[in-house]
Amino acid sequence: MNKVLENLLTRRSIRKYQPKQIKVEELETILLAGSYAPSGMGMQSWKFTAIQNELILKEVNQTIRLAILNNQNRYTQSLIEKAADEKINFLYDAPTYVLVSNLKENSNSMADSALALGNMMLQAHALGIGSCWLNQLPRLSDTAEMRELLTKLGIPENHLVYGSIILGYPDEVKEAAKRKDVINIIW
Ligand SMILES: Cc1cc2nc3c(=O)[nH]c(=O)nc-3n(C[C@H](O)[C@H](O)[C@H](O)COP(=O)(O)O)c2cc1C
Repeated sequence: MNKVLENLLTRRSIRKYQPKQIKVEELETILLAGSYAPSGMGMQSWKFTAIQNELILKEVNQTIRLAILNNQNRYTQSLIEKAADEKINFLYDAPTYVLVSNLKENSNSMADSALALGNMMLQAHALGIGSCWLNQLPRLSDTAEMRELLTKLGIPENHLVYGSIILGYPDEVKEAAKRKDVINIIW
C-alpha cells in the first residue's frame, strides 16, 4: 500500500492526549501542510491560529462553556449539562488547539477551511500526532462573548471560525476505522 493511502486509512480522531506539548517544528509542519490545501479561486483567505499557551487554552475553554450556557437554544440538553460543570474541558485536555478562520462573505470559506484542516490532520497523523475536529467553538464564533475572545486572539473582525482541531501526542491506541460502503462508480 502506498504511504499516502496508509496514512489516510489509519488516521483516527484522538480524544486522549499525553500532557506533553508537541514540538514547534511539528506544529509548523502541520500548519504548512494546511496552507497547501486548495482554495476556491486560490484565494487563501483563511487564517490559522494555533494556541499552545496554557492560560489562553483555559480561557478558550471557559469561553466555550459560558457561550454554550448563554446560547442554550442552540444546544442539546446533554451538552448544556456538560457546560454547567466548571471542570469540563471541551478541548479534551489537548496541549494545542488550531482554529481556521476565514472571510464571512466568501462562499468558499467553509470548504476551503475544511480542506486545510483535513491536510493538517493527515500531516499530524504522519508525524505520530493525534488530532480531533471540534465543533463547539466554530458554532459559537458569531456570539458576542466568543467574538471578544477571537479579537483578543488576533482573528480579523470580518472572519468567522469555520473549523478547529486539537493536536497532541496520543494517549490512546485506535484501530483503523471501518467505513460505510458509499462508493458508486458509473462505468
Ligand atoms: C465536521 C466534523 C465535526 C466534528 N465534531 C466533533 C466534535 O465536536 N467533537 C468530537 O469529539 N469529534 C468531532 N468530530 C470527529 C468525528 O466524530 C469523527 O471524525 C468520526 O466519528 C469518525 O471517526 P475517525 O475520525 O476516528 O475516523 C467531528 C468530525 C467532523 C468531520
